[in-house]
Amino acid sequence: MAKKDTEQNDSTEEVKNTPEFADEYVDIKDLPGVGATIASKLKGAGYQDVIALATANPMVVSEVCEIGEPTARKIISEAREAAKMNFLSGLEFEDKRKQVQRISTGSQAFDILLGGGVETQSITECYGEFGSGKSQLAFQLAVNVQLPKEKGGLDGHAIWIDTEGTFRPARIEQLASVKGLDPKEVLNNIKIGRAYSSDHQILLVDKVPELVNKDPKIKLIVVDSMMALFRAEYVGRGTLADRQQKINVILHNLQRLADRYNLAVYMTNQVMARPDMMFGDPTAPVGGHIIGHVATYRIYLRKGKKGLRVAKLVDSPSLPEGEVTFQIGTDGITDAEEEGKKSK
Ligand code: GTP
Ligand code: MG
Repeated sequence: MAKKDTEQNDSTEEVKNTPEFADEYVDIKDLPGVGATIASKLKGAGYQDVIALATANPMVVSEVCEIGEPTARKIISEAREAAKMNFLSGLEFEDKRKQVQRISTGSQAFDILLGGGVETQSITECYGEFGSGKSQLAFQLAVNVQLPKEKGGLDGHAIWIDTEGTFRPARIEQLASVKGLDPKEVLNNIKIGRAYSSDHQILLVDKVPELVNKDPKIKLIVVDSMMALFRAEYVGRGTLADRQQKINVILHNLQRLADRYNLAVYMTNQVMARPDMMFGDPTAPVGGHIIGHVATYRIYLRKGKKGLRVAKLVDSPSLPEGEVTFQIGTDGITDAEEEGKKSK
């Protein structure tokens, strides 16, 4: 068993409810047959802990770490043994679900569609074409999470992983003023990590526990966007398995953070036309099914009439599919104004 840091344990009380986390298990370098060299290759490829390794594909591990496939299989089976995935009783599970909190989108209709807002302990993925409002929703959530609970927030802070260089401090300040919050303080409560490569993106996600331990008020992680760097780096089909494996690792790490720290993960994903697919959905999200299986809530955003936006809930564990209309303006996200009342 790896030893845990014993200092400041009070701030991580939620950890006690969640015995299934990898950090309580051995480091991958201590697995039989691994050692420092292979461990660093594995970590470089995104397999940060035994859970990530336990769920890995031997062929992919063999390729990315340049080791024989039998060795890869052996390592993975050791990781599975070490992980000994724990189960929660139904009652414990129910208790954990009771701690779920929600961040308002700013639009009541949109919140209702999501069952009350963007949930903690979950990944919410928003996909749609350019300009559909994915980043605008991210800005709004990063501000709204800082509101008091009675106003739709969590009195919390945010982490923002920016892969496209589109974070705009001025927009945050503007939205904060609209909500009556101190713009500089709101900005200061958002920690921005600019990722320059997919490996860097993986590293930034790995940094999150450290940030949360320093600032337990962090209740939201934004990843805007999830796939941009992967898309740029992995052109062609040859490296597809490798790419998907890395994405999978990031997603599972994010899900674990959401569970462990009872925080919300919001990620954006641009859609692209797929010239290789003649009969498929031309608005399929980049990354396809891998994200679909992990994200708990999937929202498809599109532009509607008169500058309005339409959000469709595509997939959720317990809510029906549905659609709502809202608007994005200078004031941020709000309910769609009725026809007659619109001033512009
Ligand atoms: P990509 O990142 O290109 O895929 O698009 P996106 O889905 O992230 O789009 P984004 O959230 O950046 O939406 C931008 C749109 O929000 C603009 O085209 C405007 O239509 C709308 N919008 C409305 N009011 C404002 C405003 O005051 N500021 C900004 N920045 N956008 C506004
Ligand atoms: Mg964007």
